[in-house]
Amino acid sequence: MDVAVTLRVNGVARSVTTDPDRPLLDVLREEFQLTGTKHGCGEGRCGACTVLLDGHPTLSCVTAVSAAHDKTITTIEGLAEGETLHPVQEAFLEAGAMQCGYCTPGMILSAVALLREKPAPTDDEIVTAMNGHICRCNGYVKILSAIRLAAGGGEGEARLGGRGSCRAVIRTSNIEH
Ligand code: FES
Ligand code: FES
Repeated sequence: MDVAVTLRVNGVARSVTTDPDRPLLDVLREEFQLTGTKHGCGEGRCGACTVLLDGHPTLSCVTAVSAAHDKTITTIEGLAEGETLHPVQEAFLEAGAMQCGYCTPGMILSAVALLREKPAPTDDEIVTAMNGHICRCNGYVKILSAIRLAAGGGEGEARLGGRGSCRAVIRTSNIEH
């Protein structure tokens, strides 16, 4: 039986009447058109669908929408303020830490949560925090560099990031997936 679920998504109260066991990922993408949150494995093994649930990185593909009732959700679309990117988004751009971009929203959201908790993480702490995320483009070195950069810990590995079209992708992950 469908139930009414209320969520606060990127600062906006949203309601949906749906199967309580429906994955949060499907509600975000199909009901609210927040397609920056990606469907990867669909079974909790890749991190592509990560959102922040009450500030904590959460795999939305294996989270029932009813478990998010009355909770706060942040997706990649909720990080930038107008045209101003979140510092972690800027760092990913600066470090060129994306290729296809499919893993990027989840990576960025986990990095945001990490840096809120530990503003100056060690490399080991970064790797541990990002451990559940798979990058099929094998961009791990630049992703590590981006998170170091966001933490203010150096220049990172490379400043190869294209701006232009990459900027739009990193803001909403509005890619064809
Ligand atoms: S799509 Fe959720 S963990 Fe892979
Ligand atoms: S940039 Fe392609 S999966 Fe990570």
